[in-house]
Amino acid sequence: MTTVLTFGTFDVFHVGHLRILERAAALGDRLIVGVSSDALNIAKKGRAPVFSQEERLCLVRALRCVDEVFVEEALELKRDYLRQCRADILAMGDDWRGRFDEFGDICRVVYFERTPAISTTAVIEKIRL
Ligand code: CTP
Repeated sequence: MTTVLTFGTFDVFHVGHLRILERAAALGDRLIVGVSSDALNIAKKGRAPVFSQEERLCLVRALRCVDEVFVEEALELKRDYLRQCRADILAMGDDWRGRFDEFGDICRVVYFERTPAISTTAVIEKIRL
């Protein structure tokens, strides 16, 4: 049983989110997703998410490729989450390339290319305009 763990905000869910989750799931047998809390998102991105953490958790949990979800409360807890989930692989988008190499001592770290030309920020901007 290979367990894959990934993290993200997954606000205003879009196809780039779906694609990374599908690729992460394909690396193993079980995909667990840490969904950033509202507070963490404000600290990380300087804005409150459009959808609350409960709503974002519900949406991600409902996906066929996702087995489990939990709220990611702090970036500094990554190592604890990897251990608690018994993760074999940490999968992240390449906007984070190199940032999680330190966890290579307890799991394999994989970075996926981001899906081009889409992001939560871009979708919000498009709707605003
Ligand atoms: N992601 C991706 N391709 C995209 C957008 C996001 O592969 N076009 C990945 C990110 O690399 C990350 C995960 O999806 O691993 C969650 O990203 P998140 O920060 O929630 O989404 P963004 O669209 O990047 O949000 P924002 O615009 O707020 O930064």
